[in-house]
Amino acid sequence: MARILITSAIPYINGIKHLGNLVGSQLPADLFARYKRGRGDEVMFICATDEHGTPAELAAAKAGKPVAEYCAEMHDVQAEIAKGFRLSFDHFGRSSSQRNHKLTQAFAGKLAENGLIREVSEKMIYSIDDGRFLPDRYVEGTCPNCGYDSARGDQCDNCTKQLDPTDLINPRSTISGSTNLEERETKHLYLMQRSLKDKLEAWIDSKTDWPVLTTSIAKKWLHDGDGLQDRGITRDLHWGIPVKKGDQPWPGMEGKVFYVWFDAPIEYIAGTAEWADANGKTDADWERWWRTDKGAADVTYYQFMGKDNVPFHTLSFPATILGSGEPWKMVDYLKSFNYLNYDGGQFSTSRGRGVFMDQALSILPSDYWRWWLLSHAPESSDAEFTWENFQASVNKDLADVLGNFVSRVTKFAKSKLGEVVPAGGEYGREEAALIADLGARIREYEALMDAIEVRKAAAELRAIWVIGNEYLQAAAPWSAIKTDPARAEAMIRLSLNLIRVYAILSRPFIPDAAQAMMEAMGSSDWTWPSDVPEALRALEPGHAFTVPENLFRKITDEERADWQQRFAGKRD
Ligand code: 2FM
Ligand code: ZN
Repeated sequence: MARILITSAIPYINGIKHLGNLVGSQLPADLFARYKRGRGDEVMFICATDEHGTPAELAAAKAGKPVAEYCAEMHDVQAEIAKGFRLSFDHFGRSSSQRNHKLTQAFAGKLAENGLIREVSEKMIYSIDDGRFLPDRYVEGTCPNCGYDSARGDQCDNCTKQLDPTDLINPRSTISGSTNLEERETKHLYLMQRSLKDKLEAWIDSKTDWPVLTTSIAKKWLHDGDGLQDRGITRDLHWGIPVKKGDQPWPGMEGKVFYVWFDAPIEYIAGTAEWADANGKTDADWERWWRTDKGAADVTYYQFMGKDNVPFHTLSFPATILGSGEPWKMVDYLKSFNYLNYDGGQFSTSRGRGVFMDQALSILPSDYWRWWLLSHAPESSDAEFTWENFQASVNKDLADVLGNFVSRVTKFAKSKLGEVVPAGGEYGREEAALIADLGARIREYEALMDAIEVRKAAAELRAIWVIGNEYLQAAAPWSAIKTDPARAEAMIRLSLNLIRVYAILSRPFIPDAAQAMMEAMGSSDWTWPSDVPEALRALEPGHAFTVPENLFRKITDEERADWQQRFAGKRD
């Protein structure tokens, strides 16, 4: 039994995420976790909310709430929606947890001990009217690169250039709008990533099996322009993890916090410790996932994220870990995704454009979304959500192919042979052909899932559903029953068994439908069908089954048109 550690990029706390966010990290991570559990591996799947930094503070201010209260509430909202999408986290933690405070401070302490942190006095923007420094998104102004007049202090949304607040032309405070700003001297900690460049490069070069998207981004950041830069890891903010050297104060750093991108990935580890705390486990129970000196040497660690997160996970976080000199588990495979666009443009959180996770669940069950999103995952390039395509995929793949097979088999069986698996006849040539075909396809499906080729795996699963329909069409039990009833019984016995096998294979993609199929087959045996002939005899003659409610309904043209209009503009 392999041990598989899976983390999904942790979503910012500042609001409900859209479907583009979902398909870039949490959903494919869930697919993989479910698949690995289905194969019998021991899985630890961790996600959390990313609760620090200016996005959290600004969102709380907008909501008119204290930031701690806002984060606690939004964490619960996101956790509830994640449940709605059946995201099967072992733990959904919070980057503001005490576990993360302690671990982040401990990492910083180790880095300092190893001479990898330097103190830098620099000029930052200070707002006289607000009485505070304005890091990152607390300041807006004109982009020096493209002239866009609402560029943020950390990045220009128009041309995507990474910025420093002091780069902006005509800066203004996003708190008060004040332009009464000055540059003031302040002291910050920098992580000396440049000293770790050779180690990082050797580590990235050793990852020869990573997706091209991942390694190309990593190498670009390693070599482009001035190459890898030392990075400021502290901020003049109140909300966040106080700067400390382990559990000791850090002289000169009083009142400052760590930068959100320093503590966020450490939450992967802290989230696992939170899992231990929440489940009455010991430190040893989480350390065996993360400490190679305490049992994690045989763990395989997978990370999932959108492409914008790749630099932080291939350079910054590894720099923290390598720099600590401690035996922490590092990522083995980093799966990254391109962007999902929405109906001819971009999903936009600020403009409320596109479908957000709560809205999606309010119009259709999660399986419909899971299937479309995963079967169209933006892997080799950006992808686009259109309502036409969504309607076509749901209606064809789910309703016409899978739903129809289940419904035809169970309804026919019930009306002609009763609600138990029929005993007559033997599996013959047609069944042997199906078994051989199915066996080959399942092996291909496994290979694609193991390689996290999400789209291709979805296509293979669909092909597996299709062969059931093709078999039924060719075997035609409705004709056989008139001339050779025993043959018809064997065909139906095989088809009912096939429904159970489909439930197992489909569960990572569409867990609710899979559950309904398994329950209808009167079974709870989720054993992976490694031995296909055996799996197709698991439901024995006389075993009771029921006809499931319609597994999937079709999306009508009216609904499609209505939703298209509803989600085009501002979020209500
Ligand atoms: O892009 C985002 O949504 C970030 N909150 C991801 C952080 S991933 C990590 F480092 F924890
Ligand atoms: Zn710009």
